[in-house]
Amino acid sequence: MSKFFPTPKSTQLNSDVELIAFSCQDTLVQLVYLAPGATFPLHQHLESQMGMIISGRLEMNVNGTKEIIEPLQQAYIANAYVPHGSVNIFPETALVFDVKRIITSLPSEKTDEVFLKVSSKKDEMTGFPCQFVVASWFEIVITKIPPGGIIPMHQSASEKMGIILNGQLMMTVGDEQQQLEYGSIYYAPGDVFYGGYNLSDEAVSLVEILIPPRSPASYQEASFSERTARSLTAT
Ligand SMILES: [Fe+2]
Repeated sequence: MSKFFPTPKSTQLNSDVELIAFSCQDTLVQLVYLAPGATFPLHQHLESQMGMIISGRLEMNVNGTKEIIEPLQQAYIANAYVPHGSVNIFPETALVFDVKRIITSLPSEKTDEVFLKVSSKKDEMTGFPCQFVVASWFEIVITKIPPGGIIPMHQSASEKMGIILNGQLMMTVGDEQQQLEYGSIYYAPGDVFYGGYNLSDEAVSLVEILIPPRSPASYQEASFSERTARSLTAT
């Protein structure tokens, strides 16, 4: 069995909700399909959870705050024991990725906001445009890798989980290599070298989840620029 390319496990929760789960050591990554009208009732658990919409839309409720989440535009965050649930009030199926993990110690006393919008920047390593969200225990980076584009072999202290949204990506993690497409993910533990390239003739969208975020500094920086942006736009 592969260490770095987890096998998907599919579960039909009910007629409206299908889960495809990937187990990455202490982290569970799930792709969830919610048919129109599907409801995921409010619930809470020890694991901290976050996620984003990949396609469709969803009304998400986190701790009583409701927001319509749009594809790859905002992340929801429900830390340990924070109630959360969702309803698909739209006519198309919603596809969400959820990440669950027990977070025993947050790097700061600061609590996360329950909805965070993505910001844009250039990825420092590849130079490709990317969008990102940084919270207390994770970071999400969405990169568009052009045809033939290369992610150089590298490592970092964070654990990385990568979800391929389209096209084909040839990924090497440690001593394993696999061609990935939608529905498959890679898992690169901290300190394992990994990299890859886009095999297809289309730009590949890659969602990478990093736990913890690359550096507490990037978290502070992001919350600072977010606060600044908010105070500038507040009227
Ligand atoms: Fe949950």
